[in-house]
Amino acid sequence: MPEPITQTEYWNGDVGARWAAMQAELDQVFAPLTAALLDGAGLRPGERVLDIGCGCGETALLAAARTGPGGTVTAVDVSRPMLERARARPAGGSPIAWIEADAQTHPFAPEHDVALSRFGVMFFEESRTAFANVRRALRPGGRLVVLCWRALAENAWVHVPRDAVLTVLPEPAPSPPGGPGPFRFADGEALVDLLGQAGFTGAAVAPIDHPVAIGADAEAAARFAATVGPIAGLLREIEDPALRERALAAMRQAMPAERPVRLGAACWLATAVHPG
Ligand SMILES: C[S@@+](CC[C@H](N)C(=O)[O-])C[C@H]1O[C@@H](n2cnc3c(N)ncnc32)[C@H](O)[C@@H]1O
Repeated sequence: MPEPITQTEYWNGDVGARWAAMQAELDQVFAPLTAALLDGAGLRPGERVLDIGCGCGETALLAAARTGPGGTVTAVDVSRPMLERARARPAGGSPIAWIEADAQTHPFAPEHDVALSRFGVMFFEESRTAFANVRRALRPGGRLVVLCWRALAENAWVHVPRDAVLTVLPEPAPSPPGGPGPFRFADGEALVDLLGQAGFTGAAVAPIDHPVAIGADAEAAARFAATVGPIAGLLREIEDPALRERALAAMRQAMPAERPVRLGAACWLATAVHPG
């Protein structure tokens, strides 16, 4: 058996390049969820923010605008292509330090008022150690505010195209429980426990439900699903162009007729405090 690739390798390969190329589209699709994260973070002018797994920069840029000009934003990610995209985007407000590093172990200054993340924390290889490291990056009383996916079955934007693809492809082997992946924190109570174990206090999860518009029509929606996110991984394995076209056709057919194509998305907004 080949060694499984690390998250750093994963996000620096084809996946990171795709996210970088799709940055504008992804940010548009996730905009309602991003708004829920930023509102939940309640950022104030002058605050010092850490963005964990900042990717192509959307939440760091929004945090800079909300805290500026007197705050700071530290935006960390392991993905070079995504950070390159982030650095190239126009910024305003608080200064942003873009750092290529592993948030699980990087020695952050213990000064941040808020640590936030949009869909970054589910990819830690050592979640408890990683959250403890993020806690140490906060000042006493500092707050953690992160957005992560609930279960696959609650996220129609993934399971509708996925179910369609699985009519032409075999079901992949399940990933090992507790390993990195988009649905790693589907169990909100387990996430609350984990944050407590990492030294946070007052951990809680609140559901965020919002449809996301994944394409102007069925064709665009199928293309979106095939390019980024959990389905893209399934399709990447297909070498036979005819089989790939059948998978795309099955996805197009499964999309609702409404334009733009909207499907449900279900997240947890997890919050916790550094007890000091
Ligand atoms: C699903 S993407 C989300 C990116 C961005 N927050 C967004 O919403 O567009 C997950 C991000 O987490 C980053 N990541 C994964 N493990 C990481 C780690 N240990 N330290 C820092 N970043 C990490 C990946 O490189 C990737 O950019």
